[in-house]
Amino acid sequence: MNFSDSEIVASILEEEGYVSTKDIRDADIIFVNTCSIRDHAEQRVRKRLEYLQSLKRKNPRLVIGMLGCMAERLKTQLLEEEQVLDLLAGPDSYRDLPQMMAEVESGTKAINTLLSIDETYADISPVRYGSNGISAFISIMRGCGNYCAYCVVPYVRGQERSRDAASVILEAEVLFQKGFREVTLLGQNVNSYSWNSDGAKTSFALLLEKVAAVDPLLRVRFATSHPKDISDELLQTMARHNNICKAIHLPLQSGSTRILGKMNRGYTRDKYLERIDAIRTFLPGCTVSTDIIAGFCDETEDDHKETLSLMEQVGFDYAYMFRYSERPNTLAAERYSDDVPAGVKDRRLREIIDLQQKLSFLSNKKDVGKTYEVLIEGWSKRSDDYFSGRNSQNKVVIFPVTGNNPGDYVRVKIARFTSATLIGDAN
Ligand code: 5AD
Ligand code: SF4
Repeated sequence: MNFSDSEIVASILEEEGYVSTKDIRDADIIFVNTCSIRDHAEQRVRKRLEYLQSLKRKNPRLVIGMLGCMAERLKTQLLEEEQVLDLLAGPDSYRDLPQMMAEVESGTKAINTLLSIDETYADISPVRYGSNGISAFISIMRGCGNYCAYCVVPYVRGQERSRDAASVILEAEVLFQKGFREVTLLGQNVNSYSWNSDGAKTSFALLLEKVAAVDPLLRVRFATSHPKDISDELLQTMARHNNICKAIHLPLQSGSTRILGKMNRGYTRDKYLERIDAIRTFLPGCTVSTDIIAGFCDETEDDHKETLSLMEQVGFDYAYMFRYSERPNTLAAERYSDDVPAGVKDRRLREIIDLQQKLSFLSNKKDVGKTYEVLIEGWSKRSDDYFSGRNSQNKVVIFPVTGNNPGDYVRVKIARFTSATLIGDAN
């Protein structure tokens, strides 16, 4: 999400004649795009500002701005605490950046943290920054209206809104013409995407179908699905199109129905498992990845064991795992006490990570001997003798260089694997 925002900001500034530099020491303006999802993310930004302060000492004319969620959450408090900052822009005020830069140049600090109900930056074609030229993100929604009890997103990114379907399809077409071969449609809960135009409604399943129809050689991915909203219609659409990738990210958060209720997730353990069954029925061979939070308020040892048992039952292919971090002003911070001791949280997280390592290993092991269609993204970071790409299931596959080029599809037979990579040979 943040990466996609940085591309929008770069595009707005390029229109104004600003140019980007690869070496931060050459910059006259530095914008730090920020995330507030966990306290750790904010602490890292604070550390980064210390470094930027040292650059500003060498170049007093350097302008330093903070963009995104942390700017939105802390507003003027940040300008007081972090004297190094000249500018603060929340996620819905990027169009105002040129005007804000003019204010900074006239010697005042600039701040805009207004949230919008309809800003989607639909008409802005993002600059594809540091891109491999093959895969790109397309933001299809902004904000979130789910109010999961632990989560700061609805407060810092505003209400959920969908972007004009025609602009999404056009962006995919332009990317394809420029040589891109994979797009990932992004939103906090893509299943609730909805766009009305001239009395016709575009659901997420329909949008996905239309993007897939741009060209059979364009792969389409999406993130993130919400377990309460992922429909059979969507799974059937995925099954119908070879170029809609067979990988679903379905954040679980907890395997305990009691904790899911406290988290305000809108589904139970059984409902989650029922959706996994539907994925297995409609999309055999589809990988499933997830997000898990260890040590949410009032989580008991039994709740934690339910998370472990559900993980085992589903056999997730991949997971992002976090220790619960209380965020100010969220429902959980207001209603519950963050009462799982730090040591217990850490131990539970460790157990979750250890189990996932085992599950990811089993998932990769099952792939040995299979042949997958791989989209070549470039050369392996470790060796120019190997190409690196991904299969439809979103696993990284490396194999000895062939006569192909990045952007080509090749069939690769998997011979072995490491924890994060499948290794094989093209045939
Ligand atoms: N503490 C820990 N993890 C969190 N996430 C969101 N908010 C918090 C929090 N307060 C995790 C969830 C979400 C992912 C993007 O970040 O697992 O799915
Ligand atoms: Fe946060 Fe829940 Fe929205 Fe995801 S769905 S962004 S976890 S509030």
